Amino acid sequence: MPYRLTVLGTGYLGATHAACMADLGFEVLGLDVDAAKIARLRAGDLPIYEPGLDELLKRNLEAGRLRFTTSYEEAAEFGDVHFICVGTPQKPGEYAADTSYLDAVVESLAPHLTRECLVVGKSTVPVGTAARLAEKLVRLAPAGEQVELAWNPEFLREGYAVRDTLHPDRIVIGVASEKAEKILREVYAPMLTAGVPLIVTDYPTAELVKTAANAFLATKISFINAMAEVCEAAHADVKQLSLALSYDERIGGKFLNPGLGFGGGCLPKDIRAFMARAGELGADQALSFLREVDAINMRRRARMVDLARELAGGSFHGCNVAVLGAAFKPNSDDIRDSPALDVAVNIRNQGGRVRVYDPVALDNARRAHPELEYGESAFDVARAAHVVLLLTEWQEFVELDPEELGRVVAERNMVDGRNALDAEAWRAAGWHYRALGRP
Ligand code: UDX
Repeated sequence: MPYRLTVLGTGYLGATHAACMADLGFEVLGLDVDAAKIARLRAGDLPIYEPGLDELLKRNLEAGRLRFTTSYEEAAEFGDVHFICVGTPQKPGEYAADTSYLDAVVESLAPHLTRECLVVGKSTVPVGTAARLAEKLVRLAPAGEQVELAWNPEFLREGYAVRDTLHPDRIVIGVASEKAEKILREVYAPMLTAGVPLIVTDYPTAELVKTAANAFLATKISFINAMAEVCEAAHADVKQLSLALSYDERIGGKFLNPGLGFGGGCLPKDIRAFMARAGELGADQALSFLREVDAINMRRRARMVDLARELAGGSFHGCNVAVLGAAFKPNSDDIRDSPALDVAVNIRNQGGRVRVYDPVALDNARRAHPELEYGESAFDVARAAHVVLLLTEWQEFVELDPEELGRVVAERNMVDGRNALDAEAWRAAGWHYRALGRP
């Protein structure tokens, strides 16, 4: 392999990218400013839950293709291509994204860049960021114009990160020169020869592809959840509605699952940052619909609490509520903007006794919400519960036996926040079953 790669930032995105690129045969050096995280990665101990990544990390560490460091000097010395994979979280109290971690990477790396290299941004950013960082890079690097920037947005989903990285639907690169394009074509050659489409654009288009994709996905989820609201008012069934819509190939069934809506570290903050950036550009009207997408999404959480209170007899006081799920979605330990935890905290604030269980996100939930109570299994938290809420559709919850669970609860009340359970089976076992958007 001709190029040596660095990956700057080893969170969900960076850890996955580093391990996957090493697995393709590249020599990869991962960098993070968090020394504890680097120590764990060096020991082959993945700090996050991501199916399949553990094995990839260990295999490539052992093969010597993958190493980790906290030194920018070492990274600059080592790498021909530097991938920036740091986060761009929502600024507290604002809609805008905080791009300061990206600036920090550029400011730390650039002064050590004394030879030709390519820096590739993968983070999700407000359009215009790449042009700004490109200028900064050239200004701060001793190698000056020999250092170039490219923008290469990442579309991976948590829970499927390895598959999405190694077999992406498409690769998008925003470049300012043919040289940068040539280098990235070589880096991604294994995927390109396998037929993955490549779209070569300028910086702003590449940046926008990512935010537009996430805005579309969020809109699709909020569309079906808006239909769920109408179904509730009209006594119709949104699950059947969604199924019927999905057979229209122009609509398709993916991202059309009605329920508690979207959360996580990406969709909610990305649509808000997109609106904020459009406002700065004088194009806020174009994205005003995203405000509605966000509002519909947040209303689902409120509706979930209302349904639970109804089943609790009008008040949560003296009521034991079992919450199944803490992660923002199954197959992840990520609790950032988790609808499940939002609902749990809300019910607790209204006087309910809430006990939460999640197969992998419990530690993260405990740290973020020490005020909640936790249990070690679905049966544990459901013991003596008056209402059970399914808020994250982990397979082990979908497979729960309604008869068995019914034996431990105080009352057989279930609110299925993800439309994941077999309503008939639960009703047949004597449960009062309610779901979002269904009669
Ligand atoms: C998302 C994008 O899918 C990915 O391309 C981008 O790179 C990062 O953001 P991720 O946040 O990992 O990925 O999760 P995703 O699988 O997209 O789910 C997002 C949220 O939408 C979850 O809370 C999920 O429960 C919810 N969702 C998804 C629905 O409520 N209904 C659906 O039909 C699909």
